[in-house]
Amino acid sequence: MSKTPALETRQLVYAVDGRTILHGIDLRVDYGEVVGIMGASGSGKTTLLKCLCGLVKPTAGEVWVEGVNIALLSERERMPLRLRLGIVFQYAALFDYLTVFQNVAFGLERHRRLSKAQIREIVRERLAWVGLEGIEDLYPSQLSGGMRKRVGLARALAMDPHIVLFDEPTSGLDPVNAYQIDRLITRLNRELGLTAVVVSHDVVSLMRTTHRIVMLDAGRIVAEGTPDAIRASDHPQVQAFLQMASAERL
Ligand SMILES: Nc1ncnc2c1ncn2[C@@H]1O[C@H](COP(=O)(O)OP(=O)(O)OP(=O)(O)O)[C@@H](O)[C@H]1O
Ligand SMILES: [Mg+2]
Repeated sequence: MSKTPALETRQLVYAVDGRTILHGIDLRVDYGEVVGIMGASGSGKTTLLKCLCGLVKPTAGEVWVEGVNIALLSERERMPLRLRLGIVFQYAALFDYLTVFQNVAFGLERHRRLSKAQIREIVRERLAWVGLEGIEDLYPSQLSGGMRKRVGLARALAMDPHIVLFDEPTSGLDPVNAYQIDRLITRLNRELGLTAVVVSHDVVSLMRTTHRIVMLDAGRIVAEGTPDAIRASDHPQVQAFLQMASAERL
């Protein structure tokens, strides 16, 4: 018998306004894995991520999170499960009117019974882990794009998730900042033992952070394999995507 996967979708379909965006996705992510979801703009990557974390309800099929089929749950019942997942959204999605401290402490203050001192210590520790110390009193507008992404990661890690989902973690960053984020993804897997799903069209980033890459095209999985296998793939859609991605960097 196989172990319970961290995440699994079975024949996941998502349609909106009569348009099908995900056409029967079968995806499995095991504990300890870093899985990349690669694909062109509009291929359905973010939609798949939203289904995985219960932000949207699938039209059909199953979404299993740590052994629970969340597709069957109501919005209210999905909430505790969502708290077990760390989500790092595109553009970091920090609250602009809150300080860095308040952003990172946000979930802890609402969903954990901790003293102020305990919260302060967790916030300090997670910020230090992402390489940001002493910035608690700054506002997001005072941070660089790379720092905002790292605060977003610190906020996700504050809740001690087993699984972290990233949507375009390196988009909009220069190569140095992108590399820093990639290092953090690798470290959270190796040092903290966390499972991660990284949605991105940054091929370089996916190649260096993931164990396995799943390629989405128009809402379907068209290829799947290790970074080396994907690089060597003769699948026409994979090749077209890789060539386009490398041309973009020239
Ligand atoms: N709520 C919605 N209503 C209507 N269309 C939607 C909705 N959500 C997603 N779509 C459509 O579904 C398709 C896939 O969108 P999605 O955001 O998942 O793509 P993506 O792969 O993340 O793209 P990008 O790389 O640009 O972020 C797009 O054509 C988008 O317009
Ligand atoms: Mg997207």
